[in-house]
Amino acid sequence: MAEEDINVCLTNYKSFFRNDIMRDKVAFVTGGGSGIGFTITETLMRHGCKTVIASRKLDRLRESARKLEAATGQECLAVKMDARNPQDVLAAVDQALSHYGRIDILVNSAAGNFICPASSMSFNAFKTVIEIDTIGTFNVSKAVFDTYLKDHGGVIINISATLPYKGSLFQLHASAAKAAIDSMTKTLCNEWGQYGIRVVGIAPGPIADTEGMRKLAGSLSRAAAARAIPVGRLGTKRDVADLTLYMASDVAGFISGDTIVVDGGSWMTSPNSLESAKMQLKSVL
Ligand code: HXC
Ligand code: NAP
Repeated sequence: MAEEDINVCLTNYKSFFRNDIMRDKVAFVTGGGSGIGFTITETLMRHGCKTVIASRKLDRLRESARKLEAATGQECLAVKMDARNPQDVLAAVDQALSHYGRIDILVNSAAGNFICPASSMSFNAFKTVIEIDTIGTFNVSKAVFDTYLKDHGGVIINISATLPYKGSLFQLHASAAKAAIDSMTKTLCNEWGQYGIRVVGIAPGPIADTEGMRKLAGSLSRAAAARAIPVGRLGTKRDVADLTLYMASDVAGFISGDTIVVDGGSWMTSPNSLESAKMQLKSVL
């Protein structure tokens, strides 16, 4: 049976934000062809933003751009790029700037992850996730800074995770990668504020209908996962996208350097003992 398409546009869209709040802006969204990045892109477009979605799989990117344009009436450019490779990244940013002439907002949402105990993690497995998440975030931030943001200002939004807050089991690589990203958010805020650039992080909790949840939930049912969260439900891609829209807008003009958690209180209450993790993740360990 074909896998269910989880990259679908929102229906009956209503928002507290004005629908022209992003008019004349351009956003470059890494990982924008799927999951959380897809809905972030859609939400920015629904408020007047033109977008670029960039990652490795050009066919999926093109299909996503087609869906996003049809749903929002705004323009979306699909660009192939491996965030680990600086030459690729520079070419992708160049393509975006040749097309639109500007990049006001960068959303670093590209990431890789899988469940793996540290004891069986290969050298290359650890390196791969650090390269996609941490080095990828630096590569794209630096390329957009050098070619546009340095002279015009703008906003960089790093999609992080709460994994490092309590040593999440079996995700040594992703936890370390996201902790490093949160650190970059602070340093770049300090160094690049002088250029009119804000740098913020967003750390989502468990978000339904994403590749991340599919990989990490193991045997935990949706209902059981929801019960473990103080607000009593899983997050939605829209929860993350709404916060991103807020952060990208001038309403958030005094927010920089911090990583805001959007997880319904989840990281404080989700189980993290060796015994519970082994049980939940038996099928993937
Ligand atoms: C152990 C694994 C593994 C697994 C890969 N490796 N999968 N090790 N368990 N399940 C090892 C490989 O054996 C190899 O090491 C090394 O990792 C690189 O693997 P490749 O397949 O060559 O890497 P690549 O093709 O670059 O793919 C990267 C990937 C892949 C991360 C492995 O899964 C991917 O492309 N993911 C993108 C989508 C994704 O992961 N989305 C979820 C993001 S969610 P050796 O030693 O054999 O060479 C997220 C959630 C955060 O970040 C928090 C949620 C709460
Ligand atoms: P996803 O759909 O798999 O998104 C990851 C994206 O990264 C994909 O579009 C993928 O596209 C891209 N990517 C992977 N490797 C890349 C590379 N080397 N170069 C360029 N792009 C690359 O997963 P998601 O669950 O929505 O996650 C999105 C973000 O949210 C990630 O940063 C993740 O860490 C974060 N997050 C997710 C959750 C959750 O519950 N899902 C929770 C906390 C944080 P290609 O395959 O085309 O390259």
